[in-house]
Amino acid sequence: MKFTTTITSLIVVLVASMLSVAAPIDHTKRDVWDPTIISPNASTVWTIGGTFNVTWQTDDAPVNISNGAAIFLRTDAGMLQPVLAQGFDLRSGSQEVTVPANFTPATNYRVVLFGDSGNWSPEFAITA
Ligand SMILES: *[C@@H]1O[C@H](CO)[C@@H](O)[C@H](O)[C@H]1NC(C)=O
Ligand SMILES: *[C@@H]1O[C@H](CO)[C@@H](O)[C@H](O)[C@H]1NC(C)=O
Ligand SMILES: *[C@@H]1O[C@H](CO)[C@@H](O)[C@H](O)[C@H]1NC(C)=O
Repeated sequence: MKFTTTITSLIVVLVASMLSVAAPIDHTKRDVWDPTIISPNASTVWTIGGTFNVTWQTDDAPVNISNGAAIFLRTDAGMLQPVLAQGFDLRSGSQEVTVPANFTPATNYRVVLFGDSGNWSPEFAITA
């Protein structure tokens, strides 16, 4: 009986230490900012291979922006590679991007502006 009790308490200690190793990361320091995209918008038309400015509001920018900046295009099918811009200053409110020459004209493109993979522009057209 003594033996069983010792084994049981050893297991309890082992499980407890495993749980503490797997303790959750502190998320409270994250301050991902989703700037409101001004352009492109529903009335914007870009052209394949052309260079355009993505613009967004900066008046509500937080003091510290911890999330990295990046711009992608997406359609209903998902995010498109390659990244069009990254590492720029989110406080600038504007970033030039070039539409890759191998993209297909369509009316359902959206710009994704990181901070956040869910921060999308409205659908807009890219023509030949
Ligand atoms: C929509 O985007 C165009 C540029 O594509 C810009 O000139 C226009 O001001 C934007 N419209 C609004 C309401 O912000
Ligand atoms: C993007 O905006 C910058 C700053 O306003 C401007 O100098 C540049 O010509 C613009 N680029 C395009 C492609 O319109
Ligand atoms: C911004 O970051 C600095 C340096 O990490 C920190 O001292 C300051 O408290 C932060 N401010 C806010 C509003 O989070």
